[in-house]
Amino acid sequence: MTEMDPAVGAPVAEPALAEHHAASRRNPDAQQVLSVENLRMYFPVKTSGIIRRTVGHVQAVDGVSFQVPAGGSLGLVGESGCGKSTTGRLITRLLRPTGGRIDFDGRDIAQLSQRELLPLRREIQMIFQDPATSLNPRHTVGAIVGAPLQIHKVLPKDKIIPRVQELLEIVGLNPEHYNRYPHEFSGGQRQRIGIARALTLQPKLLVADEPVSALDVSIQAQVINLLQDVQNEFGIGFLFIAHDLAVVRHFCPEVAVMYLGKIVEIADRETLYLRPHHPYTQALLSAVPDVKQAAIGGRRERIRLEGDVPSPILPPSGCRFRTRCAIAQEICAKVEPPLLQIAPRHKVACHFAGELGHAPKEPVTMKVCGVDAHGAPVPGEVPDVQLNEPGFSDRWMDLKTGQLTGA
Ligand SMILES: Nc1ncnc2c1ncn2[C@@H]1O[C@H](COP(=O)(O)OP(=O)(O)OP(=O)(O)O)[C@@H](O)[C@H]1O
Ligand code: SF4
Ligand SMILES: [Mg+2]
Repeated sequence: MTEMDPAVGAPVAEPALAEHHAASRRNPDAQQVLSVENLRMYFPVKTSGIIRRTVGHVQAVDGVSFQVPAGGSLGLVGESGCGKSTTGRLITRLLRPTGGRIDFDGRDIAQLSQRELLPLRREIQMIFQDPATSLNPRHTVGAIVGAPLQIHKVLPKDKIIPRVQELLEIVGLNPEHYNRYPHEFSGGQRQRIGIARALTLQPKLLVADEPVSALDVSIQAQVINLLQDVQNEFGIGFLFIAHDLAVVRHFCPEVAVMYLGKIVEIADRETLYLRPHHPYTQALLSAVPDVKQAAIGGRRERIRLEGDVPSPILPPSGCRFRTRCAIAQEICAKVEPPLLQIAPRHKVACHFAGELGHAPKEPVTMKVCGVDAHGAPVPGEVPDVQLNEPGFSDRWMDLKTGQLTGA
């Protein structure tokens, strides 16, 4: 089936801030092109038959918060089915969220109607995983790449072909090939066509949903380099979705790890790859050959994840990772761990957050959750409700002292 084309057009974002990753909600100097807060998508599960009753919900995305700096990039990583594509589709508003905010360029677009979204579609574009299915096989490359220009009446008709040729050149394709069909191109070239289409209207934000995972390894690096070049040249903010930590490592200064609809860890690249504090991130990193040594404390063996990913229709109580976690304790089944900030640019959702082999004996989350070490509520302690804010605060919890500290 051909993917819906969210394509559309707009003025170019200022090509600044590519290296500026101080995405703090409370820092007025930081600029985010996207700020997502408590985003939720519950797909109804219905019975078959004439009267289709809702019997449950797939909690595909459940309380996700993060930010993408203008001209910067955030990586979103996790196993199959954890909700990455759904998050991408919510942000590009191919789906309407069940709840939460999607602040794009300072405006909440979460519940806008299709008509209200039309001008915004120019500014938020998506690159899909499989270039073979996301390009209409009956249309020429010129028609595919030029369609957004026509739909949004950005250019007069006679200027469209020259612009398409210019875009094909930018993505490394022969501009003379605009009248060829997608099947006449290789997989890597087809993804370049998808990138050209996404660039047509000079978006401020690009959601790249596993843009290289359908390509040969030898071609992946070329396409990633191309994405990096266009980001630098046009100052586009990127949400880069991948199931593999190795892929986002070179592209994203900041990376969020998702598990069963939730973000479990988010940090700057150096911290996440060298000192992951969540058992799930540690397990994922142990499978990445070039970072294995640092991430698993110099040990050589791979951390095996036992069991299957649970169903998002009936996720485990408390911490969703607990059914596969080697260090789970009583509290993990009772209390959901909040995404707690533990360093200037590091958040983690684990009661026993710590470097591999150095998990604390007592839960680090007791005070913020208002519970004791077994997860029972402590009278008089009030849980901190501010914990699901996007971005980083200038105050965080020092895991060594258990105290709030700051810059
Ligand atoms: N339209 C839908 N209706 C019902 N359930 C859906 C729908 N779209 C996605 N889901 C479910 O939501 C969950 C998350 O799916 P999603 O496609 O976002 O995962 P993903 O992380 O992108 O996985 P993958 O790596 O395989 O692409 C899955 O359990 C999936 O079956
Ligand atoms: S909260 Fe508990 S179950 Fe979840 S990752 Fe941490 S230790 Fe494991
Ligand atoms: Mg997906």
